[in-house]
Amino acid sequence: MISTDIQTAAQKLLQGQLVAIPTETVYGLAACIDQPEALKNIFLTKQRPFFDPLIVHVSDRAQAQSCVSWWPKVAQTLAENFWPGPLTLVLPKSDQISDLITSGLQTVGVRCPRHPMTHKLLELVQKPLAAPSANKFGRTSPTLAAHVQSEFTEDLFILDGGACDVGIESSILQITLNHEKIQLQLLRQGHIDQQQIDQVLLDKNFSYEWSHGGFENSDQLVAPGQMRHHYMPSVPLVIVHPDFDWKKQKQDLQQKLDAVILPEDFAKISQPNTNIQSYTELILSEEPHLAARQLYAYLRSAADKKTDIILFRCQKFHLSSSWQAIWERLSKAATLKWTERRSL
Ligand code: TXA
Ligand code: MG
Repeated sequence: MISTDIQTAAQKLLQGQLVAIPTETVYGLAACIDQPEALKNIFLTKQRPFFDPLIVHVSDRAQAQSCVSWWPKVAQTLAENFWPGPLTLVLPKSDQISDLITSGLQTVGVRCPRHPMTHKLLELVQKPLAAPSANKFGRTSPTLAAHVQSEFTEDLFILDGGACDVGIESSILQITLNHEKIQLQLLRQGHIDQQQIDQVLLDKNFSYEWSHGGFENSDQLVAPGQMRHHYMPSVPLVIVHPDFDWKKQKQDLQQKLDAVILPEDFAKISQPNTNIQSYTELILSEEPHLAARQLYAYLRSAADKKTDIILFRCQKFHLSSSWQAIWERLSKAATLKWTERRSL
């Protein structure tokens, strides 16, 4: 059921039911953090493996502090500057946070979302809400209430907050202490990038170092949330060179597609067929903020066209730093990337 009734949403959460919530990034599938059955239900409903931890959504910094056992000045400063907003901070968890939420990790991801309806909801519930994106595991994230409804057959209460403003998931920043030195690692790219974080922290004279290497491509879980495939539409997405010519290169493309071996879970979602006849092009704005907002909705509507594949032409500007977060998602959503960076 799609509704704008925040009071009812709050009641349902307090009774241990799941509610889909709007955020500025994507819609989330939420449960109160103190309701173990509801938390389990998130994983079951999403068909998400229990090893993939949930992000905890808080109403303010004080509530965030109740979820963690360490709240360094760096976290305080970042929260002051970027919250409410699309930045998740990963810090050592407090006793309030169960292993079900963190998948047994000793850390928890917390963020304060910016959407006014969810902000009001968090105030009414007076408890943090655990919420992953409201899609089936591995698939395209929802940026409209109707997307959430189309994902699940269950009777789900969906709080309708319109189209998501940012359109891609929050940036995830892990903060650790290594030999007395603060270390930062961007586990997931998002709207807020390393440069913006540096700007805020260097301005306040913080001393810290960046740790990289979190983006190895692997079918196995290197670290949570870092799999090679994710965000996949129900029709295979293929990334091609800007000059790709369907008529001349269709046979070559078919050969490439025939050679693709997706891991079993993803093959069920986006396995290409052996005789492609039609394609739909995914065309995004050249302006990255707008493109991020369009990305998932456009992927979904392209897939709805019952086409054999979705084509995305990779241009040189797509490889610039302002496109990194979108490019990361396109790459993971793609069944095949048939383009050489060098030749662009
Ligand atoms: O914008 C967002 O972050 C959205 C909205 C709903 O808030 N949420 C979201 O949740 O994208 P989800 O579950 O789809 O992605 C969260 C990612 C997962 O890949 C998970 O592995 C990672 O965050 N994560 C959660 N807790 C973590 C932790 N303690 N350490 C490392 N990664 C963590
Ligand atoms: Mg997700």
